[in-house]
Amino acid sequence: PRCIWLTRHGESLDNIAGKIGGDAPLSAKGKKYASCLSRFIKHQRQEQEKSRRSEAQSGMAVSPQRERTTAVWTSMLTRTKETVEEFDPKDYDIKHMRFLNEIYAGICEELTYSEIQERYPEEYEARRVNKLFYRYPGMGGESYLDVIQRLNPLIIELERMTSDLLIVTHRVVLRILLGYLMDIDRSKMPDMDVHLHTLYCVEPKPHGTVVKRFRWVE
Ligand code: F6P
Repeated sequence: PRCIWLTRHGESLDNIAGKIGGDAPLSAKGKKYASCLSRFIKHQRQEQEKSRRSEAQSGMAVSPQRERTTAVWTSMLTRTKETVEEFDPKDYDIKHMRFLNEIYAGICEELTYSEIQERYPEEYEARRVNKLFYRYPGMGGESYLDVIQRLNPLIIELERMTSDLLIVTHRVVLRILLGYLMDIDRSKMPDMDVHLHTLYCVEPKPHGTVVKRFRWVE
């Protein structure tokens, strides 16, 4: 794609409570980010459309024909779906996919980090020592490596696409996707800074990837 937009969902009630995993809805602030995001992306599309039109008018429309619709992908979780609620399905090709769900924390789902440290001190320590390989115990519990694995087919699809794309996902998935697109070693991915209410624009160019970062200020 010409541009891959990437963001985490808006702030959720679990983010406020410091709980990991779960399926909480957005907070009031998270909803404000969601509406700002939809306006921002709409504006970007209008700007692109303007430059396409002026290219065509000048008779110099040399860039290959591109699909007009922007694809919007979210996870299957409430907080990412709510983040795209204001995107008009007439203008965007919206898909929700399990591939983009957050790391599943097994027995630690919906606990805070200090609750994990208290209840499962050995697990907490094991993760601290090797976050990349550490797999959460319990049915369906995942590691970063597991999430990297499940994202592989999605990355292949992403490289094949010609339309613009917005991905609304979660902290771990965003670290991995950005890490992959920016060619960062996987050992560094678990500690990358990816804040809430920050939108990344990744543009694959012949000389390397250009990444722009936009932060929402209330
Ligand atoms: O707290 C939000 C969250 O997305 C959790 O759902 C997830 O377990 C966590 O961040 C991942 O971050 P880290 O791998 O640094 O614990």
